[in-house]
Amino acid sequence: MNENISSLLFYPFDKEQIAYPNYDAKTLFWGAQYFYGIEKFKNIDCVQSFKPDAALWEGHGIKIQSELLQQERYQNIFCHLPKQKESALYMLAQSLDYLEDNGLLVAVAANDAGGKKIESWMKELGANPTSLSKSKCRIVWAYKNTRDQQKIDFYISKGAQQNMNIDGLNFMSQPGIFGWDKIDKGSKLLIQNLPPKLEGKGADFGCGYGYLSSQVLKKHTNINKLYALDADYNALQCAKKNLAHYQENIDIEYDWVDLTVPQKDLRNLDWIVMNPPFHEGKQAKNEVGHNFIKQAAQCLKKSGSLYMVANSHLPYEKLLDKLFSNVHKVSEEQGYKIFVVQK
Ligand SMILES: C[S@@+](CC[C@H](N)C(=O)[O-])C[C@H]1O[C@@H](n2cnc3c(N)ncnc32)[C@H](O)[C@@H]1O
Repeated sequence: MNENISSLLFYPFDKEQIAYPNYDAKTLFWGAQYFYGIEKFKNIDCVQSFKPDAALWEGHGIKIQSELLQQERYQNIFCHLPKQKESALYMLAQSLDYLEDNGLLVAVAANDAGGKKIESWMKELGANPTSLSKSKCRIVWAYKNTRDQQKIDFYISKGAQQNMNIDGLNFMSQPGIFGWDKIDKGSKLLIQNLPPKLEGKGADFGCGYGYLSSQVLKKHTNINKLYALDADYNALQCAKKNLAHYQENIDIEYDWVDLTVPQKDLRNLDWIVMNPPFHEGKQAKNEVGHNFIKQAAQCLKKSGSLYMVANSHLPYEKLLDKLFSNVHKVSEEQGYKIFVVQK
């Protein structure tokens, strides 16, 4: 689908289903990509926690926040909902909480990414929604004149950052983060295949809530600097908490970055661990992984090592052979392959 789904947030106005809002009123765009027409609103906040989408707002004179600020209240809230259910309900519940009385909430999602559920979710939260369908998406809106505060509080706590016991390990995590309530099988295999000694200055490309980093730091005590990097701001906030106790001995830097584009300040790394994402929005299936590999090659020092896990069916070998001098597939099991490669 080529259409920017976020732009459907104005569809109920264009279809004259609801009156155009007051453009001077305090308005929030949450989870949305930039689309033409947003500038009509003169008093907006924009929350976007995924770095590549946040970057799309640059150049439009609109400041992006990576998270919702607690003290604000809004007359209009426009949400492009995330795919993950608890995370979408969290966004709707928070929105109803942050709206002024009689304020307007409009939400959109693709039908195959929760769109068909939005109306029932809003009803569950005590609102009285109306909906439209377009381009295999659902656009749903309601005014805050009814609500069920108990349900709102329940879904806010269910979708918030929380302490999890995962496979006997304690992690702070949050719905919406990649594999938020489990340990990724591929990452576990990567840990089992790391060399006995890792030291110096390294990075975790796409660190998520910090599983790989935490296991690396637990076992390898000669590391003096770690870059924990992810495009998901919420994941990075969890990683910060999950790695905090290593901070006393190791310099850990957390950066909210898009690793598919050059990281010009990140150079001469001794090693990188990564479990790259392989599908993202409109990008071709392998493009994100390929770009991660290209950036890793740029950031490593000569003879630095990349330790990477990938789903068995993903064709990364050709690119690895092109960019690195020694490429070893050290294991292939349970649908994953593990590479150890040297620049
Ligand atoms: C397969 S997950 C691995 C997460 C974590 N390392 C683990 O092992 O559980 C890939 C991670 O890459 C992040 N990611 C996706 N696209 C990204 C991008 N363009 N730049 C940086 N990180 C990205 C995701 O947020 C996710 O945390």
